[in-house]
Amino acid sequence: MASNARFEYVDLKPGTSSFLQDVLAGLSAPRKTLPPKYFYDARGSALFDRICELPEYYPTRTELAMLAANGADIGARAGAGSTIVEYGSGAGLKTRLLVGALHPHTYVAVDISGEQLQSAVSQLAEQFPAVRMVAVCGDYTRALPVRQLEIANGARRVVYFPGSTIGNFDPSDALAFLDNARAVAGAGGAMIVGVDLKKDPGLLHAAYNDAQGVTAAFNLNVLERINRELDADFDLAKFEHRAHYDAQAGRVEMHLVSRCDHVVNVGTHEFRFSAGETIHTENSYKYSVEEFQALATQAGFTPEHCWLDPERLFSIHYLAARR
Ligand code: AVJ
Repeated sequence: MASNARFEYVDLKPGTSSFLQDVLAGLSAPRKTLPPKYFYDARGSALFDRICELPEYYPTRTELAMLAANGADIGARAGAGSTIVEYGSGAGLKTRLLVGALHPHTYVAVDISGEQLQSAVSQLAEQFPAVRMVAVCGDYTRALPVRQLEIANGARRVVYFPGSTIGNFDPSDALAFLDNARAVAGAGGAMIVGVDLKKDPGLLHAAYNDAQGVTAAFNLNVLERINRELDADFDLAKFEHRAHYDAQAGRVEMHLVSRCDHVVNVGTHEFRFSAGETIHTENSYKYSVEEFQALATQAGFTPEHCWLDPERLFSIHYLAARR
């Protein structure tokens, strides 16, 4: 639905050359890899929305139910009149539930995809006319200075990072990310973060290998995006989706497996694939409550509360910034 409600816009978008650089670097590595943030072009975002509705993919519906059930409790901890800074576009129900529960003074959405971001924040502005709305187009996986986020307004800051997107980071990167989020929140501020839990590997396997093949299409779509945007010639029929849970590492890994020996061109660059060789496209780390609280503590937070669903599939952490 189109919307023209008022919001402020801050452009910190990185240049398009970083996509090419990241793809060339990833495909040149001895074990080929691509960063998961490039899944989310228009088609990838639509496929991800379908993943969230799949019977096997429990995280989204579980986190939503937890927000609905615990919104008042979360709001009471965070207090009214704060500035919410959400990483991710915040189009959906999760954002509306949080903004509705917290009654913030300001809501700031940070997202790499400018168009989606603007339509999302515009719709939010329509629903919450009393809240100051700011859209920041930028890469939140790189540190963004507080001042540039236009949030140095004196209000208490609450960083919101739902969806277990933090699972995409290796633990050392997750630590650096949390440390930056803690600096954005500042002393007296807080972070509310959704984290997927360790569980029966069978459930994890099903969640990333759905019967309808939507996750496979989502995984393969990144190659189509590279073809279109970076003048490449990936033949999608020569790759197959693979996802498995590595209990040792505590993560689901997604790969694209080459079905045969072949060569792919990306612009003027040539990449050789042997049969069975993979491109590692995503890690999705799973944490126990204790593991995640230890990481947050290292990053300068005090874990104040953790909500769990009755089946203990998912966790929402309330972390207070110590400094
Ligand atoms: C958006 C990163 C939380 O790791 O579960 C879903 C992405 N990948 N199915 C996840 C995803 C395959 C998702 N995150």
